[in-house]
Amino acid sequence: MRLLIVGSLDGQVGEASRMAMDRGAQVSQVGGIDQALAFLRDGKGADLVMIDVRLDVNRLMVGMTEERMATPVVAYGVGTDTQAAVRAIKAGAREYIPLPPDPELIAAVLEAVTEESHALVYKDPAMGALVRMAEQIAPSDASVLIVGESGTGKEIIARHIHRKSRRAQGRFIAVNCAAIPEALLESELFGHEKGAFTGAVARRLGKFEEANGGTLLLDEISEMDVRLQAKLLRVLQEREIDRVGGRQPIKVDVRILATSNRDMEAEVRAGHFREDLFFRLNVITLALPPLRKRPADIDLLADHFARKFADLNGVPYRPLADETRQSLRGHSWRGNVRELENTLHRAVLLSSGPRILPEAILLTGGDTANAPAGESTLTGSLVGRTVADVERDLIIDTLRHTLGNRTHAATILGISIRTLRNKLKQYTEEGIPVPAPGEGEATHP
Ligand SMILES: Nc1ncnc2c1ncn2[C@@H]1O[C@H](COP(=O)(O)OP(=O)(O)OP(=O)(O)O)[C@@H](O)[C@H]1O
Ligand SMILES: [Mg+2]
Repeated sequence: MRLLIVGSLDGQVGEASRMAMDRGAQVSQVGGIDQALAFLRDGKGADLVMIDVRLDVNRLMVGMTEERMATPVVAYGVGTDTQAAVRAIKAGAREYIPLPPDPELIAAVLEAVTEESHALVYKDPAMGALVRMAEQIAPSDASVLIVGESGTGKEIIARHIHRKSRRAQGRFIAVNCAAIPEALLESELFGHEKGAFTGAVARRLGKFEEANGGTLLLDEISEMDVRLQAKLLRVLQEREIDRVGGRQPIKVDVRILATSNRDMEAEVRAGHFREDLFFRLNVITLALPPLRKRPADIDLLADHFARKFADLNGVPYRPLADETRQSLRGHSWRGNVRELENTLHRAVLLSSGPRILPEAILLTGGDTANAPAGESTLTGSLVGRTVADVERDLIIDTLRHTLGNRTHAATILGISIRTLRNKLKQYTEEGIPVPAPGEGEATHP
């Protein structure tokens, strides 16, 4: 996680940046907008930009848009300056971080843009075979296509291949082809020359150059536009790229990994994906089995996540009760490992006894075998109340349950910390008492 701070590092921002470093972020800093744009152009790379709200946030956002840079931006400033916060959000900043920094908020913002842990955990024979194959092909420079349902661990496997390759000391850069509009994606991948389009005020290096000597993961490659597919094919054949508006090709040494959760052969048949590119990428295919097909992993991953989230949240580790394991094994896990991870995160936060009991495991997705008994009585008691009423009670109850901890409550509720803060502010303004941090059931009179 590489963080670029735009503004001075004095005082409370310094504190925020130390919190980010404690969480494993690499922090760089520049003083102003022009230096920030220059930094981003140079392919030094940043996963998140944090800008002082007193600087011209709008100019940074306009500059980045014109130069087709897609790095997320958040603004920070002294908590009381709401006008500036509103201006920053209107200019396109994703979040506003009030100072003095709240460690939980910093953690939540960092977590929202990165994944903090890349450990690969498995024991099921189906996964064992796949990991062995991945490790066998890791040292070669062959392209690999990693396919599998959403949440099965495609990115985790891609990182594992990089770690086990000769390029392990180089960078691992991931680009999500589905999340970035076509014009931006071209510039993001290949960079551009000064004057390539209105707004291209200087040369900018793309992800291929940034990943030089390392590995580039093209996530959700099936979503790449056909014109860019042609450009990518050329890169794979020639091992050189053309910056947008560039006059001569540039040699790059990059290993390509790609992922897709679609049936790529069907995409080729339907004419959505170039067959020649498919063959180039598909030197080796790794097909991740869905979680329901690897029962031994459900148990092991559940233990892994129970430990991980106890650590992360500073609560005692509680082993899973046998009944809890049974109920996990019986679930269909349509969201695969990601769903299991979220389920265990909630369970860790909701548990209080010596073990994690089935009550703490809130399974979703219409699995009738696991539907909570007494659902109808619950709905019955809700009839006649407004949605806003029920929502408020749910939010305040959850907050009491987490002893006033906002981040935990937001995770359990499945809403962003910003949404939660806005709701709580509204309730306070309406005169409804809201549990303060550290205040909950346990401390209530
Ligand atoms: N074998 C594993 N061991 C530990 N954690 C895992 C494993 N597989 C997946 N995870 C975790 O589950 C989550 C989803 O994994 P990942 O992002 O790699 O899936 P994906 O297949 O790329 O999903 P999507 O298709 O939605 O992009 C991540 O938080 C990841 O850390
Ligand atoms: Mg992914």
